[in-house]
Amino acid sequence: MVIKDEFLSNEKISEYEVEKVFDSKKNTVELIKATKTNGNEVYYVHKILSNHKKMLKEIELLNYLFEKGLDVPKVYYEDEESFLIEYIEGETLLEHITRLEKEQKEKFNYRSNNRLIYKFLNWIEEFYELVKEKTGENIILEDMNLRNFIYTDKLYGFDFEDCHVGNKERDIGRFCAFLLTYSFAFTNWKVRFTRQMLKAVEDYGYDLDLIRKEIDKEFISITKRRGTKIPRSLRDLILGRVFSFYNG
Ligand SMILES: Nc1ncnc2c1ncn2[C@@H]1O[C@H](COP(=O)(O)OP(=O)(O)O)[C@@H](O)[C@H]1O
Ligand SMILES: [Mg+2]
Repeated sequence: MVIKDEFLSNEKISEYEVEKVFDSKKNTVELIKATKTNGNEVYYVHKILSNHKKMLKEIELLNYLFEKGLDVPKVYYEDEESFLIEYIEGETLLEHITRLEKEQKEKFNYRSNNRLIYKFLNWIEEFYELVKEKTGENIILEDMNLRNFIYTDKLYGFDFEDCHVGNKERDIGRFCAFLLTYSFAFTNWKVRFTRQMLKAVEDYGYDLDLIRKEIDKEFISITKRRGTKIPRSLRDLILGRVFSFYNG
């Protein structure tokens, strides 16, 4: 990758290199390590998108949300097919949740999980509200991959290229389906964590019946996509357990 000369001179960068390439099915996402003339090291993320229209959508949303104060990476500049953004140091939400599960092997920690759940729900609720203010439409994230969020002391979100008009229940439903099916799938801890999250979501006024349908729909898609079979009986069993607090 080549960083623009103007950016290099403004930021007083003397040299830089691609330190690593992140896992990405859709795009090329690189971690850039740069050294400033004073010897300090700084990191950036360079994202190359194959689809120009999607890239513009993503940059527009990142800029808008950043200005409004939502925790998203800052965009430094863009060119025809790529853009450079702030590197957020921390665990992805997937790494974080995987660690929580390990740490809570002996004892489920309801309180510390709640902190995370509310941070996450506050972030997405603010996202929906701000984007509604901007577009007048109910835009959802769609890509609810847990690697699209980074948890430090704060929660950051990104990857907006697939945003579209839809209902929030779809986002939460897909989030839960992903969470439940990451390896090892359907553990007791994952079921309890999801149930705790759904209880919180109920307080935010989401339609739980719709979320249940969306989770089931995503289980079927996952079966097709990954070739891992989630038979009907297992789907019903898991849904029964995560919604055990809810009578419809
Ligand atoms: N600003 C950032 N700071 C830290 N890591 C990032 C940042 N942006 C992306 N990443 C890492 O790169 C991965 C892929 O980036 P993402 O924007 O989700 O692109 P994709 O469209 O390929 O999913 C993320 O899952 C995350 O691990
Ligand atoms: Mg992503």
